[in-house]
Amino acid sequence: MTTQTLSAKTDHYNLKNYDEVYNSFQWSQVEQNFSWHATGLVNIAHEAIDRHAKTEKANKVALYYSDQYRKEQYTFKEMKDYSNKAGNVLKNIGVNKGNRVFIFMPRSPELYFVLLGTIKLGAIAGPLFEAFMEGAVKDRLEDSSAKVLVTTSELLKRVPVNELPNLEKVVIVGEDVKEDETYIDFTKNFEQASATLDVKWVDREDGMILHYTSGSTGKPKGVLHVHNAMIQHYQTAKWVLDLKDDDVYWCTADPGWVTGTTYGVFAPWLAGVSNVIRGGRFSPSDWYQTLENYNVTVWYSAPTAFRMLMGAGDELIKNYNLSSLRHVVSVGEPLNPEVIRWGIKVTNLRIHDTWWMTETGSQLICNYPSMEMKPGSMGKPIPGVEAAIVDDEGNVLPPNRMGNLAIKKGWPSMMRAIWNNMEKYESYFLAGDWYVSGDSAYMDEEGYFWFQGRIDDVIMTSGERVGPFEIESKLLEHPAIAEAGVIGKPDPVRGEIIKAFIALRDGYEQSAELQEDIRNFVKKGLAAHAAPREIEFKDKLPKTRSGKIMRRVLKAWELDLPTGDLSTMED
Ligand code: PRX
Repeated sequence: MTTQTLSAKTDHYNLKNYDEVYNSFQWSQVEQNFSWHATGLVNIAHEAIDRHAKTEKANKVALYYSDQYRKEQYTFKEMKDYSNKAGNVLKNIGVNKGNRVFIFMPRSPELYFVLLGTIKLGAIAGPLFEAFMEGAVKDRLEDSSAKVLVTTSELLKRVPVNELPNLEKVVIVGEDVKEDETYIDFTKNFEQASATLDVKWVDREDGMILHYTSGSTGKPKGVLHVHNAMIQHYQTAKWVLDLKDDDVYWCTADPGWVTGTTYGVFAPWLAGVSNVIRGGRFSPSDWYQTLENYNVTVWYSAPTAFRMLMGAGDELIKNYNLSSLRHVVSVGEPLNPEVIRWGIKVTNLRIHDTWWMTETGSQLICNYPSMEMKPGSMGKPIPGVEAAIVDDEGNVLPPNRMGNLAIKKGWPSMMRAIWNNMEKYESYFLAGDWYVSGDSAYMDEEGYFWFQGRIDDVIMTSGERVGPFEIESKLLEHPAIAEAGVIGKPDPVRGEIIKAFIALRDGYEQSAELQEDIRNFVKKGLAAHAAPREIEFKDKLPKTRSGKIMRRVLKAWELDLPTGDLSTMED
């Protein structure tokens, strides 16, 4: 364990005295900021956008959007009008409170208008990552019984509309859209739509967003978040992102993942700051250029991205003026001390790690700008959140003992359901009271938490969470494959890469072409980021007597570790 700390100048930060606030803070103090205080009802999209459009912030830039082809900006007033218009397009085709509206498109201003417009109607938005292929799209639309899908003409090819009986309307953002009963032209209807919309006031416990995420078993699960989450989105924007009125903030995540909505949409706009969104793919020079062009002050990204920037060399970064940056934040995987050292070298700033999950809705354990940092530690729980290391019965363990990282139930942005699967939802909670994260960690004597790994077999590759089961199921659909087992293999840049062990059916021979074919099969059927980078052929795979592939044994083989107890293994 390292005891090295990095201190900060605390005077100008939002959370100046962590210990004092931690001991006295109540979430009800934050609630006063929002309209339910007066009416009992609320809507997060109103609070994020419309509220500011009524103040001196009306003409402040809310969104700076750019990609390879477009460079646009929108004020809070324009964001209000355009999200109202998008809301009206959806309302006119029958979208009501509680309906699931899925959004499957690359980043663009329209994506954000539609997301906000959906939520303004009290409907539940389901953002889908643009890289998903047909199988992944179908699973999610089917499980959620989505009523409406908003997509582009290009991505429509990956939507099996005829196999989705609950899907009533498909709204297409693109040119020359042929309209009929099912297909709606977004652009035409958006132009004609009114910029006035009656926001649907809802209960704070009503659903607003559904993010599908992977576990170690079964299909991806729909994690439901409610409007009440805004309390924590807002407060962590202040404490952890340290956002202040004149900040220009950039979160690099795609809204298909929870970071891209909680911290790419809600948190910055609830806090009323200018938000940068960059579309298109990762490229080091592009990213540095984005920081420079917009004079970004607060930057939220992921260890994989930082490592790739590191890999691009310190010469490249010298070509850009990054002097506007004042605060850098990271999420998604362990943040290596080496990356923190690089950050200090090239920007003179500490990178602050934050820990949370799709299920937790917002940040829980963090390094605050005002805090002494221990590189390699995730930091301490935010005020209002109780974190502990518990054993498998839910007993709290003393400092320095490794165990389950758990959070006391009841923080404002906690998920409220797994869609269609309350049994799964209940299974997250131990002894009724502790939410068990699936991560293992320990806490040191000073209350800092140290991440150790996943307890289950979930793979974190380039900051994206991939379930081994979903990949194995896809692999088994390949005609040559008899058995498949998938593990995460440690990788210096991507955190982990996906490695598949495969036993072939009789009559198939292993070859480089077959490997390539299998990789493409997963790419086309699921998503590019889910395709195994490494494939190893085996005569047969280690299985339990009940037929479950023993990924733990595969991993031990791969990493040359002891295989542990093999009593349940067949023969
Ligand atoms: O294993 C932890 C890892 O990412 C998982 C959650 O993934 P997801 O739901 O996709 O959300 C990612 C971003 C909110 C966690 O269970 N993880 C997340 N943050 C960290 C982390 N691992 C180590 N350090 C972190 N700061």
